[in-house]
Amino acid sequence: MKHLPSNIHNKVDKLARDYLASIPFDQRLYRQDIEGSIAHVKMLAKQEIIAKEDAEVIIKGLISIREEIEQGKFLFKRELEDIHMNVEAQLFEKIGDVAGKLHTARSRNDQVALDLRLFAKEEILKTIDRIKALQSSLVELAEANKDVIMPGYTHLQQAQPVLVAHHLLAYFDMFQRDKERFHDCFKRVDVLPLGSGALAGVAHAVGRDFVARELGFSKVSTNSLDAVSDRDFVIEFEATAALTMMHLSRLAEEIILWSSSEFGFIAIGEAYTTGSSIMPQKKNPDVAELARGKTGRVYGNLMSILTTMKGLPLAYNRDMQEDKEGLFDTVDTLHSTLEVFAEMVKTIRVNAKRIHEAIKKDYILATDLADYLVEKGMPFREAHGVVAKLSEYAVNKGKSFRELSLSEYHGFSTLFAEDVYNITMESSLAARNVIGGTSPQQVEMALTRARKLVEE
Ligand code: ARG
Repeated sequence: MKHLPSNIHNKVDKLARDYLASIPFDQRLYRQDIEGSIAHVKMLAKQEIIAKEDAEVIIKGLISIREEIEQGKFLFKRELEDIHMNVEAQLFEKIGDVAGKLHTARSRNDQVALDLRLFAKEEILKTIDRIKALQSSLVELAEANKDVIMPGYTHLQQAQPVLVAHHLLAYFDMFQRDKERFHDCFKRVDVLPLGSGALAGVAHAVGRDFVARELGFSKVSTNSLDAVSDRDFVIEFEATAALTMMHLSRLAEEIILWSSSEFGFIAIGEAYTTGSSIMPQKKNPDVAELARGKTGRVYGNLMSILTTMKGLPLAYNRDMQEDKEGLFDTVDTLHSTLEVFAEMVKTIRVNAKRIHEAIKKDYILATDLADYLVEKGMPFREAHGVVAKLSEYAVNKGKSFRELSLSEYHGFSTLFAEDVYNITMESSLAARNVIGGTSPQQVEMALTRARKLVEE
């Protein structure tokens, strides 16, 4: 094999070769690499850059290499550096020197950019599906607990009553935006870099549009230097993944908090909790905790690739080989987290009784009392002050609002009348009948919208 690529020379020290190798991780791109090569060779033949017969031999060789890899018969060699060289060297083994024609009008620089874009496109579509599955589980849980009223919190202090379904659908909306961001990211990944060569374009009459069609890209890149040397699409994926993990982490935190014995709002199915080795009463929310923890790693991957790319001169630099491990790790972490959450959420049981008990007295209706006074003509700021004093009084007396007599009310404002006792959790909810509000009517509409979004 006298014609093997010249950068695999014997003068490179073994230590350096090991250091430079990306094959331990980029073998994951074998399918994209071979798919890209097949499309490239078809194009070379179509454009009469190489003979049709040679192209056929090369394609057959590539297909059999793919089979070898899939059957676990392929021996990846570290000294061959990366997936591109491993495949090409094996092609030489199989078909001899005609293999040397594969790399016509191509460089590893546009090849690796291609592989990574093909990979990212597939993974984005899988990500979107997995987000959707989790959204489905959230909708189911919301439906099943449609009538349960819970305390809504600000500063983790009970604030106003909301429907459990409303609370859950907040996460639905977050994940909806994440999905939109991935769709948007997809558009920028969906660009063919092949044809950019090492950096300046290629000196053959290649058919880039043909290759784009073969590989399912909707656009071809418009600047060769940019196409081989930017990894903004990797960064965008990781940034979008980081946001999604942030949302998952918040959901995780509430699952942890709500399943604590202090809250007891929910119970996670046993299949998604773990026991303790010494405390038999424990059901630990480890899955949620670990998701919260893994979020840090996904942020780290984002920071890492941003830092790697910062200050790199055009065009390709070897630094960029560092793009892959973080991306793979982020994909795996995000996907496994989404998957396990979609299942775990299905096992969650809401404890309506505990939630009901948690609504201490009815102080959570303070805003409604202020709104009541506003309706009777008092300016809101003044009403706020009146109800603040009233609340303090009620708390000191150990009474709920409902337990106060009308004459006690009158001590704070004579605008209070018998109908103040019509203020209930239900009336509070019903009053918030604004788009995006927690009234049962609005939540019903939101559920319908959400269901439609996951079914489409
Ligand atoms: N293993 C390399 C990477 O992942 C492939 C591109 C190598 N190009 C080069 N000129 N050394 O980035």
